[in-house]
Amino acid sequence: MLDNKAENPLQSGVNMVHAPQPCTVVIFGGGGDLTRRKLLPAIYNQSLDGELPANFAVLGFAIEDMDDSKYREFAKQGVQRFSRQSLDQSHWTGFENCLHYLQGSFDDVEAYAKLKQRLEEIENEFSIPGNRIYYLAIPPGLIEICVKQLKAAGLVMPVDENSPFSRIIVEKPIGRDLESAREVNATLSESFDEKQIYRIDHYLGKETVQNILAMRFGNVIFEPLWNSKYIDHIQITVAEEEGVGTRAGYYDRAGALRDMVQNHILQLLTLIAMEPPWSMDPDVMRDNRQSVLNCLRPITSENFDVHVVRAQYGPGFHHGEDVPGYRREDGVSQNSVTETYIALKLFVDNWRWAGVPFYIRTGKRMPKRASEIAIQFKSVPPILFNSNQDKPLDANVLALSIQPNEGLSLRIATKLPGAKLKIFPVKMDFRYGSTFGEQSPEAYERLLLDVMAGDATLFMRRDAVEASWIWVDNILKNWSSSGTRWIPEYSAGTWGPLEADRLIESDNRKWRLL
Ligand code: BG6
Repeated sequence: MLDNKAENPLQSGVNMVHAPQPCTVVIFGGGGDLTRRKLLPAIYNQSLDGELPANFAVLGFAIEDMDDSKYREFAKQGVQRFSRQSLDQSHWTGFENCLHYLQGSFDDVEAYAKLKQRLEEIENEFSIPGNRIYYLAIPPGLIEICVKQLKAAGLVMPVDENSPFSRIIVEKPIGRDLESAREVNATLSESFDEKQIYRIDHYLGKETVQNILAMRFGNVIFEPLWNSKYIDHIQITVAEEEGVGTRAGYYDRAGALRDMVQNHILQLLTLIAMEPPWSMDPDVMRDNRQSVLNCLRPITSENFDVHVVRAQYGPGFHHGEDVPGYRREDGVSQNSVTETYIALKLFVDNWRWAGVPFYIRTGKRMPKRASEIAIQFKSVPPILFNSNQDKPLDANVLALSIQPNEGLSLRIATKLPGAKLKIFPVKMDFRYGSTFGEQSPEAYERLLLDVMAGDATLFMRRDAVEASWIWVDNILKNWSSSGTRWIPEYSAGTWGPLEADRLIESDNRKWRLL
């Protein structure tokens, strides 16, 4: 049964956030990089903003040799360096008491017995009613052992509304192809019910990404135009300035398709292309996103080259400094043919989107960090202001800027002031920074609170992960059957290879300048 809020999702002023429940967050890999950079700073910010439940604790569980006091120091350093809001010493003094640490190996049965005991002690001390969230901030190869050990140690409670909850958060990558993703999902479901599994995709926690829903379904003016009758095409760009950095070990086996498209970008696409959900219920929302994935037209070997371009960055410049090409980065094989850039043309084969191309590009070592979704509308008919076909009017564009400079802008035609009737394109701009003044919460802040509240809307359901892989697998298979020895190169600090320009220009369109 849905509550009233869920039945009236667009009601003005409705607060959609369910309350986070008292709980302990157990972080597997509690001494690792993700924990230090993202998770602990996120929890600190939630505490500073008064969002955490009153009865709350964190238990870091990892191999590193630390005790509670060293762990608090580790967390403090992470907060000082990576937190959205700076460290407030008086707040920290109270906050740090909720941080605990247990040293142990993930494959050691004894360690789980100690984990259980430690959890019970913490729950007694903080009056937490046994609710537990297990955050797996660990390499994918360790998921299976942790999940099995948790179950064997009696640390996973069945779903029962009247009993304490056990929930698990899993980071991407979920597998490296369809088959391995299915294996990970099968392992998870041996110990946890799907309702207890939260597959995190941090893009879904970004403020601007959630705003796609607010914009589409909180306004009446967009929905009537949101279809193939009025939209010419859609461009999704996720450009990163950084190179592979210290992550070559993972990235060289992944590449841009697996790292960014299979998850983040396909999820952005589902939010843009989905049908209006009739409720904010997590499964209604996820069903609608899922329908988009089910309608993705497979990219087959016959049409491959006009739909997919991949490339790798070569040497170039970054902020005026020489930077090495990908194959010269630490930890990357000198013969690597891993793509650091990919451009795709894809179609969503349903009535709404029939014939509308979605152009996607993402890459590392681009000129700047810029992520944008641009809805390019069709031109007005070639009469009145648009009658001169040598100088067609610029069509309307709705550009959603995901990051940085979060906001949106609408390009419209206006009359240039003066005696003559001349048309000029202007932009109506909305920026989060100037309108709301304060920094939005980080994606991890929002998503962690959602897990505490039991709201899975912004998490990937099993079928979504697998449907994305089904589509991506076609591309991977094509690459592997063509036995890649070489892929195009683009200079670091540029917008990708010429082949990607051709992909869109052969349809008489252009990548947007960002
Ligand atoms: C991660 C990818 O999921 O997302 C990284 O593994 C990428 O390669 C990162 O850099 C981008 O996230 P954001 O939030 O910085 O855009």
